[in-house]
Amino acid sequence: MSVLAESAVGHDELAVLKLLALEGGLEGDVKISCSRLAERLDASNQTASRRLQRLETATLLERDTVSDGQWVAITEEGERVLRAEYEEYRRIFETGTEIELDGTVTSGMGEGRHYISLSGYKRQFEERLGYEPFPGTLNVELREESVRRRSAVASLEPIPIDGWEDEERTYGPAVCQPATIETATGETYEGAHTIAPERTHHDEDQLELIAPDKLREELDLADGDHVTVYVGEEDGGPASPAESTADGGDER
Ligand code: CDP
Repeated sequence: MSVLAESAVGHDELAVLKLLALEGGLEGDVKISCSRLAERLDASNQTASRRLQRLETATLLERDTVSDGQWVAITEEGERVLRAEYEEYRRIFETGTEIELDGTVTSGMGEGRHYISLSGYKRQFEERLGYEPFPGTLNVELREESVRRRSAVASLEPIPIDGWEDEERTYGPAVCQPATIETATGETYEGAHTIAPERTHHDEDQLELIAPDKLREELDLADGDHVTVYVGEEDGGPASPAESTADGGDER
């Protein structure tokens, strides 16, 4: 909705833009006639023409009128609006897929080592993640775009780590997600997890990773190195019930 508000066009215009994209409007000029467009929209010629006009005014498409119709091309801005729409549908239907986050390796304040080693957490890591983590967290400072994308992680099924207490204090709950790390040179490490406190506010631009191994050694990483982290289901793919249950032929 925010994208539409920004571009000052409504859902009717967006539907026209989508139609034009289906006709090839993203690849270059396509020729259309207002009457044909009107027919496809189940609207009058004037309505079709007005919607094209609005899209042009909002600089979502460029037009060149000729005697028997017009040539239209979707602009970069128009493509951005369509992509934003696509992104929303992706989030609706592909909740099981991985979310790609980019950032650089940084050093934290040496706290990770302490927390990861606490028995109340360690026990749960072994049970729920299936390994004893290397004592520490690898910190990744996310790029601005990834900080925004990170909100989509909330739509993924988390692995909960419960809060617990000892004689002295209580320790808060946390959530983990499976993660695969890829370096700039294309080396990958599968089987890591992101970890974040469940409730307390944390820096959204800092991603913390745990793994059975020391990631800096496994992936030859130093502060400032660029990494891509794929968060979510390791096998990915749309969470479509039809696909996973219909024929039962999937042998995995
Ligand atoms: O907070 P800080 O980054 O200083 O360190 P830490 O969480 O105590 O972790 C100790 C060191 O191991 C740091 O350099 C981490 O980046 C690194 N580490 C790693 O390479 N692989 C892991 N699975 C966990 C931590």
